[in-house]
Amino acid sequence: MKKLLALSILLAVFASCGDADTYEDIENKSEVPDPGTDPVAMTYTKNVKPIIDANCIGCHRAGSSRALTTYAQVKASVESGALLARIQLQTGQQGIMPQAGRMAQTNIDVIVKWNADGLKEN
Ligand code: HEC
Repeated sequence: MKKLLALSILLAVFASCGDADTYEDIENKSEVPDPGTDPVAMTYTKNVKPIIDANCIGCHRAGSSRALTTYAQVKASVESGALLARIQLQTGQQGIMPQAGRMAQTNIDVIVKWNADGLKEN
């Protein structure tokens, strides 16, 4: 009976090893922070700029009156409330940014968390 108990404990230990992350999982996790749970603060350079570059600067380019190409500009737009309000509208609603439709929720979450984290540059 003792042997059986020892064996089942051993089996349980091995079985739990099977749930361990693969190297690929770990790599993916470090590259794509989960805004819902990641305790690390979002920064402009690492997390926000790539989203703005991919979704906004086609229209909000450097030199235009509503440029969003520098840290100061994006920070000011978030602080004014305009940027967060616009990106959280629904597709089709007046004023939604990007104009073509709402971004993936992950992108929106990153920018919302960046604001909550204190709008750090780096
Ligand atoms: C297809 C062009 C286009 C894209 C892409 C686009 N915008 Fe805009 N955006 C505009 C135009 C034109 C205006 C001015 C008209 C208006 O206020 O709706 C504007 C206005 C804004 C405003 C209000 C600015 C102000 O001074 O009141 C914000 C904030 C904004 N956009 C943020 C964004 C963000 C963030 C993205 C990317 C996630 C984005 N936009 C993508 C064209 C675009």
